[in-house]
Amino acid sequence: MAGSIRQDSFNRKLALTSVELIKDMGGHATWIDLADFPMPLYNGDLEASQGLPDNAARLQTIFLEHDGLMLASPEYNGFFTPLLKNTIDWLSRPNPEKQNQPRVFNHLVAGLSATSGGRLGGLRGLIPLRTLLSGIGTTVVATQLAVPEAQHKFQGEVLTDKESRDQLANVVKAVLACEIHK
Ligand SMILES: Cc1cc2nc3c(=O)[nH]c(=O)nc-3n(C[C@H](O)[C@H](O)[C@H](O)COP(=O)(O)O)c2cc1C
Repeated sequence: MAGSIRQDSFNRKLALTSVELIKDMGGHATWIDLADFPMPLYNGDLEASQGLPDNAARLQTIFLEHDGLMLASPEYNGFFTPLLKNTIDWLSRPNPEKQNQPRVFNHLVAGLSATSGGRLGGLRGLIPLRTLLSGIGTTVVATQLAVPEAQHKFQGEVLTDKESRDQLANVVKAVLACEIHK
């Protein structure tokens, strides 16, 4: 899943590369495009009157069918994106229509990645993202990847920079290898 829904998003391409690598390593992956799951900005009054948005409930179901999450997020002013924060906020809420449904984040293992045109490649945004996910019970693997100068590292839809691909493969490997007690 990527933290950007921009059509030509580099992070979308990075997340799609993770899907490819997971499959190459014999794993099963589902590509989640957040453009397919629009949600209103979280508002407690809205939640109290209408419950979870349908798209949040749909995404919760998809998350619960998976053990791991590979994320690629742009960095906006040193942080991960508001789109990602809003999505995580909604998904972290209980679904009043499914009283016995487990919470989605404390069964997950996550691997983090980022890319930007800058020299740090979005690295700063991964720090608060790691803090957030760890705080809601997700096991975030230590290995991560930030790809600087994105405009030189992709050709078309493909991450072509070998060093970045190898490091992304290491993140994917760590997620696939990580077992957590549910
Ligand atoms: C509001 C805003 C703030 C940004 N701040 C940063 C930043 O702090 N560091 C950085 O490397 N890039 C920053 N950028 C540039 C984005 O990381 C860059 O446009 C990136 O390609 C966006 O991701 P995407 O291609 O996946 O949509 C910022 C962009 C926007 C719109």
